[in-house]
Amino acid sequence: MKVLLIGSGGREHALAWKIAQSPLLSKLYGAPGNPGIGEEAELVSLDTEDHAAVVQFCKDKAIDFVVVGPEAPLVAGIADRLREAGFAVFGPSAAAAQLEGSKGFTKDVCARFNIPTGAYQRFNNAPKAKAYVREQGAPIVIKADGLAAGKGVTVAMKLDEALAAIDDCFEGAFGAAGAEVVVEAFLDGEEASFFCLSDGKSLLPLATAQDHKRVGDGDTGPNTGGMGAYSPAPVMTPEMVERTMKEIIEPTMRGMAEMGHPFQGVFFAGLMITAKGPELIEYNVRFGDPECQVLMMRLKSDLLPILYASATGTLDQVSAEWSEDPALTVVLASKGYPSAYEKATPIVALPAAGDGAKVFHAGTTIKDGQLVATGGRVLNATARGATVGQAQASAYTLVDAVEWENGFCRRDIGWQAIAREKS
Ligand code: AMP
Ligand code: GLY
Repeated sequence: MKVLLIGSGGREHALAWKIAQSPLLSKLYGAPGNPGIGEEAELVSLDTEDHAAVVQFCKDKAIDFVVVGPEAPLVAGIADRLREAGFAVFGPSAAAAQLEGSKGFTKDVCARFNIPTGAYQRFNNAPKAKAYVREQGAPIVIKADGLAAGKGVTVAMKLDEALAAIDDCFEGAFGAAGAEVVVEAFLDGEEASFFCLSDGKSLLPLATAQDHKRVGDGDTGPNTGGMGAYSPAPVMTPEMVERTMKEIIEPTMRGMAEMGHPFQGVFFAGLMITAKGPELIEYNVRFGDPECQVLMMRLKSDLLPILYASATGTLDQVSAEWSEDPALTVVLASKGYPSAYEKATPIVALPAAGDGAKVFHAGTTIKDGQLVATGGRVLNATARGATVGQAQASAYTLVDAVEWENGFCRRDIGWQAIAREKS
């Protein structure tokens, strides 16, 4: 099978690494990719926003299957264009990708199909949003409706913060994404991520994970795209997984089909495990980054036929086998992230991969023959171990072998799970 993988982050490096192990693969292309993906695939400098160019490339190379990593091309309709041209694609249509592209859309789906989530209202102007927030009181959550690179959410513990967040949205802090605002009840509990494949009519549950959104040790400082993650999430007991499937994922799949937008791809459900059980915080319509890295480190089965089954309506014919051992990933980021950081800083040395231990590339490139950091989140030191504690120790052994002066990381990834292991 000839496969084109779209994307250039740590998530896509992990996907490329797994896909490259498939006996079904004859050729893997990565567009635009990164130096890590380049070790597994032939990189092509396609502009992935130019959907016509992507379709033409697939025709020229007789591609059998396209795997789309990030959300932006999905929301922009790349899967639709490719399917119209007759290609099998992993990833939802633009209509189904609204589950990530519009928080208001998702809340309306929850309301219509009785899916547990925080009570909410949608607003297109500040005065009405503020009046509602004053009526509800704090704590309360303010969300820009559209894609805001993970930055459009304010969990306001005080009324003033909530009112300021409403002004930020309507004054354009998140561009077009903030033209509509969702105000949502604050949910109290422990967060977890749940990943489940869908082919539009059947489901294949994958695995659970927990991430670390704050930049600093002890979960302090500003939010980021994620500073580390581990899988499985201890809070997701078999009972919680079963309830999540029944109460959240299954009604979403059925509801989307009923609305005429059958969902093909991965449901990445952000959950709050409250006193009442699992409640939906949000959907993403692609794998998490860095959650995907720990999932791929635990997946024993061949990934390629599983993704292909999701794309071709045959998910009921495949299964996924997982290592019982947990996996953990530590994100190395450029000093200064998530604010401004220096670019093109040299990465002098990386440790070799071992059994169940690998550094994935996220924001890297080659400049004048030298590996350099280009992004905020740059490397993902990922390892498996018999316990979360052992996976953590192995991941930090990788981290300590990275020679990159401008890099930093959190030193406590996995702390909640390790505290549980010790108790
Ligand atoms: P989101 O971008 O929707 O995942 O939101 C970012 C983060 O804000 C989540 O991971 C939660 O930590 C927090 N959050 C979002 N919605 C709520 C809510 N209704 N109650 C409490 N925390 C929330
Ligand atoms: N790590 C969170 C995300 O991928 O959205």
